[in-house]
Amino acid sequence: MNQFLKEVLQDLSQTQKSLNSKYFYDGKGDKLFQEIMDCPEYYPTNCEKEIFRDRTTDLAIALKNGFNTFDLIEMGAGDATKSSYLLKELIDTKVDFTYMPIDISSAMIVHLEQSLPEKIEGLKVHGLNGEYFEMLEKANHISFRKKVVLLLGGNIGNETPENAIEFCRKIRASLQEGDLVLVGFDLKKNPRTILAAYNDAAGFTRDFNLNLLHRINNELDGDFDTEQFEHYPTYDPVTGACKSYLVSRIEQEVRISGQSFHFKENEPIYMEISQKYSVEETEEMAKIAGFKSVAHFFDHKKWFVDTVWQCI
Ligand SMILES: C[S@@+](CC[C@H](N)C(=O)[O-])C[C@H]1O[C@@H](n2cnc3c(N)ncnc32)[C@H](O)[C@@H]1O
Repeated sequence: MNQFLKEVLQDLSQTQKSLNSKYFYDGKGDKLFQEIMDCPEYYPTNCEKEIFRDRTTDLAIALKNGFNTFDLIEMGAGDATKSSYLLKELIDTKVDFTYMPIDISSAMIVHLEQSLPEKIEGLKVHGLNGEYFEMLEKANHISFRKKVVLLLGGNIGNETPENAIEFCRKIRASLQEGDLVLVGFDLKKNPRTILAAYNDAAGFTRDFNLNLLHRINNELDGDFDTEQFEHYPTYDPVTGACKSYLVSRIEQEVRISGQSFHFKENEPIYMEISQKYSVEETEEMAKIAGFKSVAHFFDHKKWFVDTVWQCI
């Protein structure tokens, strides 16, 4: 049984049904995420783009940390729009590095390997298509140089705070003392601003969530009637958890690869978390996971932070 089917059957068999948001990203999901990033309500991309565009030199200096040879690994690279500013700066300042984007979306990796060297002359790209930590291990078998790991955008936010600590500990375990990690965190702010970002008026976030049901129908022989599920985003300003659900509009049965699932009217499927943090919480996470926090880069509204951690 393939991993996607195994996880879907398992997650929908629990008392609290859920689906794993890492499966959002098929070709259609990649495109919908691009649309979300272009929405006026979805501020995180613009905030982080501002940091990468306006603070490129300072970012590069912090990440080079006095070295001119290392490899740059990006976990969950997506379309690498923001990191491209940094890649260009590193090439322009004659750093000897290979860019290794990791992504579970094969379409994204193919796209990056083709398009980036055309856009940035002299850039060496070695794409790694697969799960974060399997690919990080692969990167460690390919590269024996000093490493800088990028984890931008919503990636760390898509883990619960407990899992995020575990995630950072695993990154630390695969690196050497002195290596650097740049982590992007979306910061706590006005709750309405946050909720609106996950409930855009054009409905791209709704379609992005519903696309996973379409994907299950197409790839796992499912029969979800997507019209009968409603997108429901929430934000809790105390915990910083922004969660999205698909709520069954009616009592219904759904079949996936011959297995039947019963949905009560108004029963939710938990789809995704986009966790928000305070700067203090990110520093605490660095400490617990085995890093020293060495630099902070904020956008002008201080809505987002890219923080640089050093392995200790
Ligand atoms: C929210 S997007 C962010 C993309 C990019 N970091 C940015 O800031 O624009 C998350 C990306 O991580 C990838 N991804 C999600 N879960 C993954 C996993 N378990 N292993 C590898 N890649 C994953 C997705 O395919 C997607 O391209």
